[in-house]
Amino acid sequence: MLKSLNIRVLVIGLLCTSPAYVKTLEYYTEKPSYIESCRINEPDFTNCSTRSIQGFLNAVIEGIPEIEESFGPIDPMKQDQLSFNQENSDIVSISANITDLVISGFGKMVINYFRVSKKDFSWQDHIYIPKMRIDGNYKMLGRVLIIPLHGSGTLFIEIDELNIFMNATTRIYEKGGYTFFSAIAVSVKLYVGRVWTYMDNLFNGHSKDVERSTNEFFNENWREFYEALHPLIVETVERTLFDLLKKMFNLMPANFFVEDIPNSLALYGLKTRLIV
Ligand SMILES: *[C@@H]1O[C@H](CO)[C@@H](O)[C@H](O)[C@H]1NC(C)=O
Ligand SMILES: *[C@@H]1O[C@H](CO)[C@@H](O)[C@H](O)[C@H]1NC(C)=O
Ligand SMILES: *[C@@H]1O[C@H](CO)[C@@H](O)[C@H](O)[C@H]1NC(C)=O
Repeated sequence: MLKSLNIRVLVIGLLCTSPAYVKTLEYYTEKPSYIESCRINEPDFTNCSTRSIQGFLNAVIEGIPEIEESFGPIDPMKQDQLSFNQENSDIVSISANITDLVISGFGKMVINYFRVSKKDFSWQDHIYIPKMRIDGNYKMLGRVLIIPLHGSGTLFIEIDELNIFMNATTRIYEKGGYTFFSAIAVSVKLYVGRVWTYMDNLFNGHSKDVERSTNEFFNENWREFYEALHPLIVETVERTLFDLLKKMFNLMPANFFVEDIPNSLALYGLKTRLIV
């Protein structure tokens, strides 16, 4: 896909004597056709940026080799491990570790809006995913509602109608004469339509009947159970979006997307200028 485009490989060799001093950066130096250029000082900016980011995202989902190399495929995507502890509520007290995660659904992301702040160029977005699913191996110890849990096995969590409201703190910086976005932090608020779960081997296989009825109970009382899983799902979504956006905007100059973006000197002044 990138073959027809002009990607510059910038080699910064300080002394060029040792490979340790050579850093390779790759990014677009020509705007790909799927990126719509917008101007933040025009009234239709948010509609334009929403279309532009959706276009970029669609290209990434279809497969941009530079992103796939460092991120892997978007859908399904793999993640190593998640740990969580939730001990501060009457409903739930769990310690859980999930490994070998496979996350599906991000390939169907719909950007409902992508706002960029004129003041600090941070982002506020609404993303919709029709169905997100997490598969993994879990180890869990604790209690949900009145049920003691102690087991390890496979689990899935499936979420219908996932609405993600995301705030991202960003910094802008220059490289090779272009201005780039760097995502610094991402926080999300989630709204879900319905959540389905199944945990296999919930009581270390001691009773298949109790395992089945407990899983049924969690699905009948899914709102409460979702509350218990909430920190884990938030972390999964935040981590995924953070990594993805970081990779995307490392590759694409912000100028292609926001034509009238200031450079970091104009935005931050001399003292706080970010040097990369
Ligand atoms: C943005 O798009 C929405 C929906 O298509 C439309 O209602 C709205 O007027 C547009 N905003 C501007 C500033 O053009
Ligand atoms: C999860 O991992 C942490 C750190 O490795 C460990 O302290 C904790 O006991 C584990 N929890 C379970 C339920 O295995
Ligand atoms: C994003 O920031 C706005 C304004 O500060 C705030 O109202 C909103 O709750 C924040 N949303 C998230 C997901 O953190």
